[in-house]
Amino acid sequence: MNNIRQNDPKIMVVGLGYVGLPLAIALARKFSVTGFDANQARINELTSGNDRTGEISSKELVNSSIKFIGDLDVGTPSDVYVIAVPTPIDHENKPDLSALASASQEVGQYLKPGNVVVYESTVFPGVTEDICGPILETASGLVCGEEFFLGYSPERINPGDREHAIDKVTKLVAGQTPDITELLASIYGSVIPAGVYRAPDIRTAEAAKVIENAQRDINIAFINEVAMIFNRLGIDTDNVLAAARTKWNFLDFRPGLVGGHCIGVDPYYLAHAAEEANFDPEMILAGRRINDGMAGYVADEIDRLLQVPSRVLVLGLTFKENVSDLRNSQIVDMIRALATKGHIVEIYDPIASSEDVQAFYGLVLKPTIDNTEPYDAIIGAVAHDSFCAMAASAVDDLVKPNGLLVDLKRIWPDLSPTEGRRIWRL
Ligand SMILES: NC(=O)c1ccc[n+]([C@@H]2O[C@H](COP(=O)([O-])OP(=O)(O)OC[C@H]3O[C@@H](n4cnc5c(N)ncnc54)[C@H](O)[C@@H]3O)[C@@H](O)[C@H]2O)c1
Repeated sequence: MNNIRQNDPKIMVVGLGYVGLPLAIALARKFSVTGFDANQARINELTSGNDRTGEISSKELVNSSIKFIGDLDVGTPSDVYVIAVPTPIDHENKPDLSALASASQEVGQYLKPGNVVVYESTVFPGVTEDICGPILETASGLVCGEEFFLGYSPERINPGDREHAIDKVTKLVAGQTPDITELLASIYGSVIPAGVYRAPDIRTAEAAKVIENAQRDINIAFINEVAMIFNRLGIDTDNVLAAARTKWNFLDFRPGLVGGHCIGVDPYYLAHAAEEANFDPEMILAGRRINDGMAGYVADEIDRLLQVPSRVLVLGLTFKENVSDLRNSQIVDMIRALATKGHIVEIYDPIASSEDVQAFYGLVLKPTIDNTEPYDAIIGAVAHDSFCAMAASAVDDLVKPNGLLVDLKRIWPDLSPTEGRRIWRL
């Protein structure tokens, strides 16, 4: 613990994705940091100054003192290991902790007495101490809580959102002992101007993170449900929300397709913990059911409005605006549902990588939408800045005069129906 006590710890960040990379770069402003990723292609791209997630600029990467490695041997020994690997769900919507287990196994082999292992991945309460701790113990031959120590500090970044970057959001920290909590508070506090919040223990910090995202999911599910009700009643949801928002305590959520690696996934982690404790998490799973059903609902509505098999252009495929992340994109589900109903669907997304779209989903992206034949319908699915900036005439040019314009994200709020052209909004 000497280096740590002297406030000069060697830190290794394990997993350099959307979460690990910005964290590693922030820590490297103050500490000696090594970044390890099991994917050598990721290491190669970072070493050459390119972050395909778009979170860190080439200039920042090149100017950082961080050292990127694809072989753990090279970066060890370190004093503090920070693990930020994926925590997805499997095909039965159960937590898939395999990356967390393998990262723990790898790090465990290099642990030395006094080391600290901090987890940043989103998990359910108990994972750090009951699952990761024992893996580290077995791999290292050291005793957890005596010879090495655990910490948990959930990541709260919002990809593509510069206003809530890592240094601008309070960092939650919890250690296995009060000493470790203080160490983490001093390490994170020295690179995060927004400050730290000390949770009383690791389980509390794990629980806090997982409910932050479950709460968002449930709130969006409620708005999705009312959007479906208002659609049935012939009332414009956006007008209702604008009116309701004038009350000081009305929560500002919008309807939409919930995808990505967090909001649609983390509630299943909480549900799993509840079920393990013989508690039926009704509201959490109801929220998931509603949000997971939205892609099918939207496809059904579009199909009903089109009536006959049609040529459709979808604008946007990534799970949210201005990011290239395609994980769990509900737009893919909507496209597949439309194709099953006989529609010919073309896709344009200037931010997604066509190789990734092909590899993940077997879909083909149009390279451009210039000079295309007008479509029977266009679907504004993701509010990328470039779509929001489209002039009304450019949107008009894409859809036949008697066609259908679907705007799932209020991308073109000022467009109104014309004599022939219909507009459908979620
Ligand atoms: N993406 C977000 O917005 C976000 C926000 C908050 C929290 N989180 C949580 O943070 C964690 C990481 O998410 P992410 O979006 O950064 O994932 P990611 O897929 O972008 O990055 C994870 C990286 O870990 C690497 N990796 C996987 N297994 C490894 C191993 N055994 N050893 C070393 N490297 C390994 C992968 O190659 C990848 O580069 C998840 O638990 C997620 O729920 C994500």
